[in-house]
Amino acid sequence: MGDKNVVIITGGAMGIGRAIADRFAKDGSAVVIADVSGATEAAAEIAATGAQALGVTCDISDPASCSAMADATVTAFGRIDTLVNNAGLYSTLKLTEFKDITTEEWQRVLNVNVMGQALVTAAVLPTMQSQGSGAIVNMSSGTPFKGVPYLLHYVASKGAINAMTKALAKELGSAGIRVNGVAPGFTMSDGVKANPHQIEKLKDISVQARVIARDQLPEDVVGAVVFLASRDAAFMTGQTLVVDGGAYFH
Ligand SMILES: NC(=O)c1ccc[n+]([C@@H]2O[C@H](COP(=O)([O-])OP(=O)(O)OC[C@H]3O[C@@H](n4cnc5c(N)ncnc54)[C@H](O)[C@@H]3O)[C@@H](O)[C@H]2O)c1
Repeated sequence: MGDKNVVIITGGAMGIGRAIADRFAKDGSAVVIADVSGATEAAAEIAATGAQALGVTCDISDPASCSAMADATVTAFGRIDTLVNNAGLYSTLKLTEFKDITTEEWQRVLNVNVMGQALVTAAVLPTMQSQGSGAIVNMSSGTPFKGVPYLLHYVASKGAINAMTKALAKELGSAGIRVNGVAPGFTMSDGVKANPHQIEKLKDISVQARVIARDQLPEDVVGAVVFLASRDAAFMTGQTLVVDGGAYFH
């Protein structure tokens, strides 16, 4: 299976991550769905289309779980070409004034959204380094670019991701590993649709701020991720592409 393109998608069981996984599978990659819930079911659905897919139950905030997931990937497919660091807490977060966000809630969000991406990256790194190649795509958000209020813990977590994308790109470039990011606008993912409080408060504001004035769908995010992982982006690293229908321009 040495020639197979092997892609890990964290949080790939649903939402934006699932759309990304479906596309990589359709394009012929072997996909690993690494998710705290629904991983095996999602992988089974993808495998039923004829693609190679592995589901691994993985909590990205747990180092041992991340290492076990990376090991399971190498055991199944022999290599790791791309990591899509997509899993994160967003749709279940309540819009809260800065002064009312508790210390525990700050720590919970930073632990999953920042440490989680760091831990998964650390787990796949030895394999990518021994290959001398790899592409990492970190899921960010438009919120740190725009300065969205009432989600300060979340906005700070994604600002940290933008910073890590740049710094890690500098650190890993000589090892043949590229690190880029994608920053979607408010997207009608499964998680968002299941949490109406987010939709009611954010959807209209988000759509009005766009020059392409329609709902953003998970499928709208997929192309940027696939591109950044591909050889077409072989000379791109440390960049974060904003995919938001023209709400924010760098
Ligand atoms: N939906 C949006 O509006 C939006 C906008 C910008 C960025 N994002 C980012 O995109 C990513 C996906 O968002 P979404 O809306 O598709 O999410 P979602 O809630 O629809 O799905 C998230 C997936 O991540 C998994 N997950 C959560 N915590 C995990 C953990 N600790 N370990 C492993 N898996 C875990 C969940 O089980 C779920 O399958 C997140 O990083 C989010 O911050 C979302």
